[in-house]
Amino acid sequence: MIALVVEEENKKYQRGVKHLCDNGLTKVPTKYIWPETDRPIFTKPDKLIKPKQNLKLPIIDIAELLGPNRSHVLRTIAEACENYGFFQVVNHGMVGDVSRNMIEVCKKFFELPYEERSKYMTSDMSAPVRYGTSFNQSKDNVFCWRDFLKLSAHPLPDYFPYWPSSPSDFRSLAAIYAKETKEMFDLMVKAILESLEIDGEGDKAAEELKEGSQLVVVNCYPPCPQPELTLGMPPHSDYGFVTLLLQDDVEGLQIMYRDEWVTVDPIPGSFVVNVGDHLEIFSNGRYKSVLHRVLVNSTKPRISVASLHSFPLTSVVKPSPKLTDKHNPPQYMDTDFATFLQYISSREPKWKNFLESRKIHHIR
Ligand code: OGA
Ligand code: NI
Repeated sequence: MIALVVEEENKKYQRGVKHLCDNGLTKVPTKYIWPETDRPIFTKPDKLIKPKQNLKLPIIDIAELLGPNRSHVLRTIAEACENYGFFQVVNHGMVGDVSRNMIEVCKKFFELPYEERSKYMTSDMSAPVRYGTSFNQSKDNVFCWRDFLKLSAHPLPDYFPYWPSSPSDFRSLAAIYAKETKEMFDLMVKAILESLEIDGEGDKAAEELKEGSQLVVVNCYPPCPQPELTLGMPPHSDYGFVTLLLQDDVEGLQIMYRDEWVTVDPIPGSFVVNVGDHLEIFSNGRYKSVLHRVLVNSTKPRISVASLHSFPLTSVVKPSPKLTDKHNPPQYMDTDFATFLQYISSREPKWKNFLESRKIHHIR
């Protein structure tokens, strides 16, 4: 009998946090309460409680990058990827309407009746559209305060017909957004690879990445009655090469910097760019795929759109030969997508488990 009740409860949570909130809620259900050490304000005993500080990430001006100051900007990119694993870009050429329309139409999508949204719910990892909740809802013990919609986006014509047809302008607005983000990625990748100073190797990787995969992940974080007990997203690193993240004006993203969680200041109209696991592997550990997580709050709903870009599914990701030699042996095993997919379907892809599993431990 108790087992049945638990099963019923679990089913309820599978419908996501938006559904839960729409039905009225004054307390966070136990399912979403994280152990104390994982909660938003956990201070290690040996650390003094400091006033909350937001982190200003290095800012890259794309207009500068494309002008006579390119080499200077490339050095800033290299330093940002080494020290933070993150930077923000401004003057990126995407007009404000494209990003604003994307956020607005995504908001409308999450406001559709549950029956409409849940048409896209599936446990099939290779489905071109996936609606769901938490991080990995079939595996997570504790749930996250987040619903998502994941859209495969490159090559666009292969996937576009499967995208949600409601709201009526969703497909067309999301397609413009996906296409322009892909162009921004191609431009960013060229610069990032150039900043590694590996000449032809960089061009080769850029060509390969141009044909690579793109996954647009729309994250919806409804207001939470007790935000101090839960997380919007657990600590994780992104598995792809580079992620381009668009946030609305509500803060929530935190990154691990010098052993502490710091909040990224949202800059209206900017994109947050971060190094993914593939780039850490490709750069043989020089550029860091940094842990990040998301906090929620009690008053404002938050929407973010992450565009994850990776090598093609058939590529093998490995440290660039230009960055390895006798004194600098490869730090990671050759890694293909199949290995990755197998890994994430077998366990909770939290922390940097996957990247750790690919590390070669040299005996010195
Ligand atoms: C992600 C992610 C951060 C955010 O989607 O991988 O880290 O602010 N999102 O929603
Ligand atoms: Ni992420």
